[in-house]
Amino acid sequence: MLSLEQVKQSLESAGQSHVLQFWPELSEAERERLLQELSQLDLQGLKEHCEGAARAAACPAASLDHCIEPVAPESIGSVRTSDKASVAQWENEGLLQISENRVGVLLLAGGQGTRLGVQYPKGMYNVGLPSSKTFYHIQAERIHKIQELAERKYGSKCTVMWYIMTSEFTLAPTEKYFKENNYFGLDSSNIVMFEQRMIPAVTFDGKIILQEKGKIAMAPDGNGGLYQALVDNKVLEDMKKRGVEYLHVYCVDNILVKMADPLFIGFCVSKGADCGAKVVEKAYPAEPVGVVCRVQGVSQVVEYSEIKPETAELRGPGGDLIYSAGNICNHFFTRAFLHDVAEKCGQLKQHVALKKVPFVDTCGNQVKPTKPNGIKMEKFVFDVFPFSRNFVAFMVVREDEFSPLKNAEGAATDSPNTARNSLLAQHCRWAIAAGATLLDEHGNTIPPPASVSAGDNPPARCEISPLVSYFGEGLEQLLKGRTLPTPLILDNERAKKLQAE
Ligand code: UTP
Repeated sequence: MLSLEQVKQSLESAGQSHVLQFWPELSEAERERLLQELSQLDLQGLKEHCEGAARAAACPAASLDHCIEPVAPESIGSVRTSDKASVAQWENEGLLQISENRVGVLLLAGGQGTRLGVQYPKGMYNVGLPSSKTFYHIQAERIHKIQELAERKYGSKCTVMWYIMTSEFTLAPTEKYFKENNYFGLDSSNIVMFEQRMIPAVTFDGKIILQEKGKIAMAPDGNGGLYQALVDNKVLEDMKKRGVEYLHVYCVDNILVKMADPLFIGFCVSKGADCGAKVVEKAYPAEPVGVVCRVQGVSQVVEYSEIKPETAELRGPGGDLIYSAGNICNHFFTRAFLHDVAEKCGQLKQHVALKKVPFVDTCGNQVKPTKPNGIKMEKFVFDVFPFSRNFVAFMVVREDEFSPLKNAEGAATDSPNTARNSLLAQHCRWAIAAGATLLDEHGNTIPPPASVSAGDNPPARCEISPLVSYFGEGLEQLLKGRTLPTPLILDNERAKKLQAE
């Protein structure tokens, strides 16, 4: 730990002396905690960080219209338009890699989930499924199932390593939750949790914000903090030791995530890619999602705010949007690529997020701002795409694979309600496609639901455990020709009963 004198000097040279303004009022314990916090900061880089944050906040995003192009046709695949033989070949390749223990998944779970507004990690959120399963629980079961499918196909027992990036906010509760739930039946030695770094939030003129008299307002450094965290926690060494060559990186809050998706992995491996992104078609030109494309020939994600509406609206001869590859934070990386980018962490772009950061004013009063007052600098996980030597994108069907939870109940989009309904609608579709007739509470036959939006009626409450089916497979033998009332929870126990009938 640094001494008070050392900290004072560094703060002074960074123009941040106000951080110690309330020092005389602090208790011994508070002083020790603050010194500890300040010692962990990169005080040398602090000046640059604060000035950079202030500069970035002051200038509008550059317009990229003149230099963007869509992903090259040879670098993009699509589940909808590829022939069946190619799809089967990619899937088999993916399952083969999984069966040989060469595939791991990496969960980005360090975010604070401020829009959702709960005081615990988003992965522990229950969106109100009939089974009451949380995101972490569902994801653990998908790992179980994909291991089983690969084992069954290639006859070798295998492991999909689960790496979980957390932050100061999420590590302890996540660890506790996994332990209390006995790691959802997974072997705890195949789950590695690690922590990303935190950085201070600053005001628009570049001053560190004090959250309390003796505490700096800190926030995780964005999901692109992953690359530094991989180095800090020796995760790449762990992957090497275990022979994990390919990583599927995903966000905690997509209830439909196909973890270690063999089709996506197989596509990327077959194309010899070092880096890949799963994408969905943009729903409409102004949808505020990043688009995977090329800027001056280099693959990257461009935000909606970085291009003009006219560019977002451009359509090709067939009427499809030219910039339609919506980024859904589902990425493929080879270990070798991650090794390369780990050395370039420092070069990653910093994005500015304007946030409401509670603070103490100069008179020592606690203030809860009603409009953004602070800047959090974040790195994004996709900002390594430009380093790729062979980048590919893979287009999948939104209603099958993407429904994130971002907002609190009541919001029009990306809420617990929409997340729950998209999963239930998908499971109804699977059951009906497998030959089941589902009945509602009045005994009426339920037609297959399409995708759902917040205004729709909730689909029938049909939930299929990932332990029974990973992505709709294997249901015919259980459900064909059956008429089943809903609510229906098809878990292993129910599946056994149906088989015995
Ligand atoms: P979001 O950008 O949606 O952030 O993260 P969030 O924390 O979930 O929610 P808000 O913006 O505060 O409301 C997308 C994914 O990246 C992870 C999140 O946990 C989520 O899986 N993430 C985000 C990190 O792992 N670290 C971060 O610093 C930020």
